[in-house]
Amino acid sequence: NFRVSLQETVVGFIGGSVVLPCSTIDNGLKNEDITVYWRHNSSQNVYDIIEGEGSVERQDSAYKNRAETFPIEYMKGNFSLKLSNLQFNDSGKYICYITKAHKNPSTQLFVKDRGNHGTATRTERIVSFLILLHILQYI
Ligand SMILES: *[C@@H]1O[C@H](CO)[C@@H](O)[C@H](O)[C@H]1NC(C)=O
Ligand SMILES: *[C@@H]1O[C@H](CO)[C@@H](O)[C@H](O)[C@H]1NC(C)=O
Ligand SMILES: *[C@@H]1O[C@H](CO)[C@@H](O)[C@H](O)[C@H]1NC(C)=O
Repeated sequence: NFRVSLQETVVGFIGGSVVLPCSTIDNGLKNEDITVYWRHNSSQNVYDIIEGEGSVERQDSAYKNRAETFPIEYMKGNFSLKLSNLQFNDSGKYICYITKAHKNPSTQLFVKDRGNHGTATRTERIVSFLILLHILQYI
């Protein structure tokens, strides 16, 4: 069973980076309570945090060296993910599964093309890619 709670919007740019928020109000978590699965478009493994340890063992190669979390934040219930060198196909739905938590926000990320600055057409500049980030929890 999953429950989706709050939603947020984040804007990123092609080639840039974003921090996708994922946090729980629970703090003072013990390592064994900290298991979080970041997934893209439901199935692609972006990053795992297993009992308080970041793991890229099962990471899809598409995210290699592009995804990081912040271990010093884990105890505060902050499992946010920084995704770098954004590409168009990074758009889509991101899910942050927190296996033990009570309340979680979710985020929509827009990845935009900076275009050729002054020479980009209006259409090019407004092309944007939506990343839906749902932070779900097992209940
Ligand atoms: C996006 O496309 C590039 C080029 O085809 C590919 O190498 C990369 O793995 C893709 N990214 C994802 C997240 O699938
Ligand atoms: C979580 O950590 C990231 C990286 O340090 C930071 O940018 C973000 O503001 C933190 N979020 C919260 C809710 O503290
Ligand atoms: C994820 O889904 C979005 C929206 O359907 C799509 O634009 C994007 O290319 C997909 N990316 C991957 C890597 O599957």
